[in-house]
Amino acid sequence: MNEVTKIYQTKNRLGLFRSEIKLHTAVKALSLSIEPGEVVGLLGLNGAGKTTTIRMLSTLLDPTSGSIEVDGLSMDDNRKAIQSKVNMIPGGERMLYWRLTGRENLEYFGRLYGLSSMAIHRESSRLLDEVGLAEAADQPVEQYSKGMKQRLQIARGLINDPAYLFLDEPTLGLDAPIARQLRGTVRKLAKEQAKASC
Ligand SMILES: Nc1ncnc2c1ncn2[C@@H]1O[C@H](COP(=O)(O)OP(=O)(O)OP(=O)(O)O)[C@@H](O)[C@H]1O
Ligand SMILES: [Mg+2]
Repeated sequence: MNEVTKIYQTKNRLGLFRSEIKLHTAVKALSLSIEPGEVVGLLGLNGAGKTTTIRMLSTLLDPTSGSIEVDGLSMDDNRKAIQSKVNMIPGGERMLYWRLTGRENLEYFGRLYGLSSMAIHRESSRLLDEVGLAEAADQPVEQYSKGMKQRLQIARGLINDPAYLFLDEPTLGLDAPIARQLRGTVRKLAKEQAKASC
């Protein structure tokens, strides 16, 4: 990303009929480059703009100015191609469908990414196994514990076999040994499959 800036527009209510528009610069002229196989950490205080940066890098949010390129493709005219190369793992319980089972969640996202039925079945089972959810695979997510939901997020983040994986506090709420295991998985992906993480 080159000189990327994100300015949020917020409406503050002053009274019943009065409100003011406020501009808030969350990210200011940030340039960052991530090589294949590299693991990059973003550190910053609360509100520093880490989540905003990650959401822009994973195509979920458009920058106000500046440019983002993935493997030489510009985000402006290659959004679809870039979406198949990136994925993100949010901290907490966003992005999952609680009424669906773990397996159904993965199948749903697999379909969104345009995987074939065969690949969807194969990858869902493989990933559920890898994150230790094989036994709970057919249970609705609302019955999962916090750690189980987070492990499902990890599987979801890998469903499209992304070359670049963006993790936003992915160990939120995980027990220390499981958090350690996740960091190990990220290292392994970087080393063996040259996946980049941030
Ligand atoms: N949707 C939004 N609308 C308006 N302002 C926002 C929005 N999202 C974030 N902000 C503001 O942008 C700034 C950066 O927020 P961001 O969530 O990117 O920070 P962060 O570094 O991820 O913080 P944390 O460590 O608390 O997760 C904050 O001041 C926040 O209030
Ligand atoms: Mg954040």
